[in-house]
Parts: sequence; C-alpha cells; structure tokens
Amino acid sequence: MSTARPQPTGREIKFSSEKMLVSKTDARGVISYGNQNLMDISGYSDDDLLGTPHNILRHPDMPKAIFYLMWDSIKRGNNIMAVVKNLSKSGDHYWVTTDFDIQKNREGRIRNYIAFRQAASRDVIKTIEPIYSKMLEIEKSEGMDASLKYIETFLAEKDISYNDFIEELARPKGLSAIIFEKIKDMFK
Ligand SMILES: Cc1cc2nc3c(=O)[nH]c(=O)nc-3n(C[C@H](O)[C@H](O)[C@H](O)COP(=O)(O)O)c2cc1C
Repeated sequence: MSTARPQPTGREIKFSSEKMLVSKTDARGVISYGNQNLMDISGYSDDDLLGTPHNILRHPDMPKAIFYLMWDSIKRGNNIMAVVKNLSKSGDHYWVTTDFDIQKNREGRIRNYIAFRQAASRDVIKTIEPIYSKMLEIEKSEGMDASLKYIETFLAEKDISYNDFIEELARPKGLSAIIFEKIKDMFK
C-alpha cells in the first residue's frame, strides 16, 4: 500500500443510494474487511484496505471533532449516525451517512466495529457542509476543543445530540430502511 495521501481533486463521486458500503475493523479501527461496494467507490483494493487504519479514507475537509464524537460514542458501545466526507484513492470524494454495529466478546469487551454507509443525499450535504467547514476553520485557528465547543453549542441551541440531529436529517425511510436493516442483519 502506498503511504502517500491522495491529493483532493474537488470532484465528487455520486453513487446509488441503494448501495451499502461496509467495512469491519478491530477495536482500534484497523480494517479487517471491506465489501465490493466500498472497494468500487473508494478505489482501494483488498490489499490496500486490509490491515490498514481506517483513516486511509479520511478527507482533509473532515473536522477532527466529528471523529472524536464518533469514537467517544462507539468506544462506549453506543451506535452513532454520522455524516462523513471520504477521500477516494483517486483524490475524488464521496459523502456518506454511516452507522455502526458494535460487536463484543463474551467478557463484554469490544471486539469489532462494522460501519454501514450509504450515499448522503443532496439535502444532507447542503446542511452539513457549511457546519463542517466552519468547524474546520475553527480547528485550524483554535484547535479541536474549540470546534467541539462550536458543534456542541450549535446542537444545544436545538436541544438535540449530534446523533439525533443526523438521524432526523438522514435516517433512511420507507422501503429502503427495511432493505438496509436486512442487509445489516446479514453482517451481524
Ligand atoms: C468501523 C469504523 C469505520 C470508520 N470509517 C471511517 C470512514 O469511512 N472515513 C473516515 O475518515 N474515518 C472512518 N473511521 C474513523 C477512523 O478510524 C479515524 O478516526 C478518522 O479517519 C480520523 O483519523 P485521524 O484520527 O488519523 O485524524 C472509522 C472508524 C471505524 C471504527
């Protein structure tokens, strides 16, 4: 695997909302499985992904604070729905909504995480992009704690958690929700 980060091109990869991009990691976020959809959209092969930390998909436009919130939740065994802009091997990007299955061993310790991603809709991107871009700007000048404070204040004004805000915005509805739940069950 090449260690050089792809240069962002600013081009967006759009893909069908019927596709689910799945990956599985160990407790530290090292990838142990990626499905064909993830490989197709990210441009990474099995060889690139397996044994690699999940930040291989990280886009530099993503605020660190979002990953902080994500890890803070899943490490405690709580699923969270998040919106993420990912960087493909070519430097193009794709927006996803993601949530997780958290698998524990008999002693109750986290063994694996599975991430289930779908294409984020135009409306979701339109709402989230300016928030993330403000957070990134704050992070660059004042650090992650300041951007965390920004998102926490934004959510507190709406009296909602990040997870509930994203769920309201992006949770699949109707038939696609049923189909996605069935696909998720196959990985559990
Ligand atoms: C199951 C799982 C899936 C993840 N999926 C992504 C992803 O699609 N994109 C991403 O940038 N980070 C993802 N992460 C988070 C990364 O582990 C990492 O925290 C993030 O990319 C930030 O990287 P950094 O800490 O090096 O800045 C995932 C983590 C887990 C446990």
